[in-house]
Amino acid sequence: MKITVIGTGYVGLPTGVGLAELGNDVICLDIDEKKINQLKSGKVTIFEEGLEDLFQKNTANGKVTFSTSFAESIPESDLVILAVGTPPNPITKEADMKYIKAAAEELAHHLSGYTVIAIKSTVPVNTGNAVEDIIRRTNPSADFDVISLPEFLREGFAIHDFFNPDRIIVGANSERAKDVIRTLYEPFKDKCTILYVSRQSSETIKYASNAFLAMKIQYINEMADFCETSGADIYEVAKGMGLDSRIGAKFLVPGPGYGGFCFPKDTNAMAYMGKFNGVDLSLIETTIKSNERRKINMAKRILDMVSDKKNPTIAVLGSAFKGGTDDCRESPALQIIEIMLAHDVNIRLYDPQAMPNTKAILGNMITYCNSAYEAIGGADALAVLTDWAEFKELDLEKIKMLLTKPQIADYRNTFDCKKAKELGFEIKSLGRKL
Ligand code: UGA
Repeated sequence: MKITVIGTGYVGLPTGVGLAELGNDVICLDIDEKKINQLKSGKVTIFEEGLEDLFQKNTANGKVTFSTSFAESIPESDLVILAVGTPPNPITKEADMKYIKAAAEELAHHLSGYTVIAIKSTVPVNTGNAVEDIIRRTNPSADFDVISLPEFLREGFAIHDFFNPDRIIVGANSERAKDVIRTLYEPFKDKCTILYVSRQSSETIKYASNAFLAMKIQYINEMADFCETSGADIYEVAKGMGLDSRIGAKFLVPGPGYGGFCFPKDTNAMAYMGKFNGVDLSLIETTIKSNERRKINMAKRILDMVSDKKNPTIAVLGSAFKGGTDDCRESPALQIIEIMLAHDVNIRLYDPQAMPNTKAILGNMITYCNSAYEAIGGADALAVLTDWAEFKELDLEKIKMLLTKPQIADYRNTFDCKKAKELGFEIKSLGRKL
């Protein structure tokens, strides 16, 4: 199948490369000339586990190519996938549709033959109708269907998730469009459920899923707080809860709050849609507020550790919103760092992948280090804010020698608390028996 994927970000690029690997001819289209030039020259523009190899293979054999030209890519395509950003409006927090609308209008001019336009970006319910109207208005004779095809890829695992989906949701009102999607997902038909629903249901499934997962994380975070006061252990509690198949074992890991470009944006957008439609979505509103409070509490707990020192230095491990990605958007780590900076604290940071993105946000407000041990050297306390696997390999005895005082705020439950205590550390971890 000939496919154009519009947008080459964390969703568009892995999707385009994945579809090429399945044997399709894919053009990845972006209006950002710099990005396209980089991709054309063989450089992957984002860090995503497993992407580099698939990218090199499918560019070398010509299955995936790159372009800034709608005229060059759209007329040949059987399927056009919209994977452009829907960033939150800074005031109302509703999802901003300007990129979707601009892409819909531009592609409409170039449609030729029957084409399915699939919206993969996370968009407010009824956006499918709006996109259909734009295309019809711009090119009344075009032969097309607009469908909703939400993505469920996790950053850091996008390639894995692409080839091993839990489910594929298709919001389509026309049989002709469903046939195109059946052909596209033929390789997955025995691997997972492919659920065909209405466009509005599909658009809602995406928001409802992300809001539910965000709520689940905040729930386990609150239980972790409770465990700290009751003598229970959050891992034992989560295991016991997760054995109930109605609850499920996943997404019960406590942390410093959920972050990333999806959960914060989508919970806010859902809350906005609830208000707009006059529906009480107080569970989601409470989740958003509780997540904000958590990051403030996390920063306060670290500051308490160094309250006896003027201008203390904190070593921070991790600035990405989670391990396995270089993405710092809405990272709890960065928000905690920013709160600490407002309290005259010096920060020495190390992150295995996210240093360039962090520098772009924090500039010279903090010190950037080349290794975990370099960051820890001479600091008054250590805070672990991102769950990178390599932090688990750090040697507690060496850390103790490098810190001015043996204290750790371990918000990703990286270290063995018992061992840390035996070595004389004061360790604040989440929901664990100390
Ligand atoms: C999330 C969803 O998991 C994907 O299914 C979805 O496709 C994607 O959003 C999207 O809408 O595009 P992602 O943002 O990559 O994926 O990250 P997650 O792995 O879900 O983690 C989100 C945040 O929750 C991170 O800050 C993570 O550290 C935190 N988290 C996650 C926890 O604190 N505990 C957990 O048990 C799980």
